[in-house]
Amino acid sequence: MLIPTSDFIGLEGLTHLCAGGETPMLKSHANAVNRFMGDKVWGEESRERFESTSQQCKSKIGQLLHVDAEEIALLAHSSEGVNLLAHALPWKSGDNIIVADVEFPSDVLPWKRLEKIGVEVRIVKNRNWSINLEDIDAAMDENTRLVAISHVSYFTGQRLSLSELADLVHSKGALLHVDATHAAGVVPVEAYHADTLVSSCYKWLLGVHGAGIFYWNRASLPDLEPPFLGWHTPLSIPEWNEPGAYTPRPDAGRFEPGNEGFISVYILDNALGRLLEIGIPSIEKYVLGLSSQVWEGLNDLGWEMMTPRESEHSAGNVCFMAENIKQVTDALEEKGIYIWGSYGGVGRARVSTHLYNSEDDVAKFLNAMKEIPVTHAQPA
Ligand SMILES: Cc1ncc(COP(=O)(O)O)c(C=O)c1O
Repeated sequence: MLIPTSDFIGLEGLTHLCAGGETPMLKSHANAVNRFMGDKVWGEESRERFESTSQQCKSKIGQLLHVDAEEIALLAHSSEGVNLLAHALPWKSGDNIIVADVEFPSDVLPWKRLEKIGVEVRIVKNRNWSINLEDIDAAMDENTRLVAISHVSYFTGQRLSLSELADLVHSKGALLHVDATHAAGVVPVEAYHADTLVSSCYKWLLGVHGAGIFYWNRASLPDLEPPFLGWHTPLSIPEWNEPGAYTPRPDAGRFEPGNEGFISVYILDNALGRLLEIGIPSIEKYVLGLSSQVWEGLNDLGWEMMTPRESEHSAGNVCFMAENIKQVTDALEEKGIYIWGSYGGVGRARVSTHLYNSEDDVAKFLNAMKEIPVTHAQPA
């Protein structure tokens, strides 16, 4: 494994295959929290310390996403970033937005709200659990303003190529918005292909709730105005006798109306330090090795696989269909094996491998699966 289980709180002795849901806490996060608590006593200097950790964290996010740190805003969660964009773009009746049927609700609901003002949400259907670029292409027309899609699907585990998506979407004059929650921290994310991008931080990035990444491609969307304003959005804090004076900041701080969730940012900064030290290419190689073992093992047992087999089309999530997922997760939990499958009770299960997992974890999981009857067999 790339980080020993002993570096995490409570992980030893567990078979934790659910990084796509939540990851365990690094023990070193306690030092980050202590640092935050110590920094909070210094009056005005406290703020400088918070800001400096935030800048450091944004530099690391920039490194992770291959973009400029000034293009990163830290919001409360990734869902907030999607809503921010839905409010920020100037829509007109007749515009349409393309999403996929296997998207996370936070990546669809903010767009559905726009139907009230005449914006159409077109939902591209999967084929055998895969979303095809040709189908996205066919759904687009001259009124398509935005394609909003995940880099790696939370539901199927499919990984899409951001450069291919960007070529298609931009060739038609539309914008590309990406949810990189299941990609960032496990496979390389070249965010600059997108016009905007969000990611949660409490899964593959090893952080906690309360910090969500929003990337703003300043070159492609230079005029994107913040829809929510506060003391932090102007270039400088307005004078006391002119509290309504406003020129937006040139950096993505314009999308943060108030203080960031600094305690979560301290933790995220610590987590990113660890991930970047190991290096995303090494994490990708390691994780794909484990996820391909999971895929092969489940496929050999006869389960219906949802995730594509090819490494370039998958990441750390391996998903399969089960008639009653609760029966599967309960049987595994009795043996201290954790996967994730709580969407609708009937349906799919997600097995996630990350840098703290080992081949031994995969073997334990597959051995346990041998004792569970296959309830959703591969299609003939
Ligand atoms: C693809 C995807 N996006 C967003 C979220 C939710 O993120 P947040 O709580 O940061 O809004 C999830 C959570 O499971 C997810 O799977």
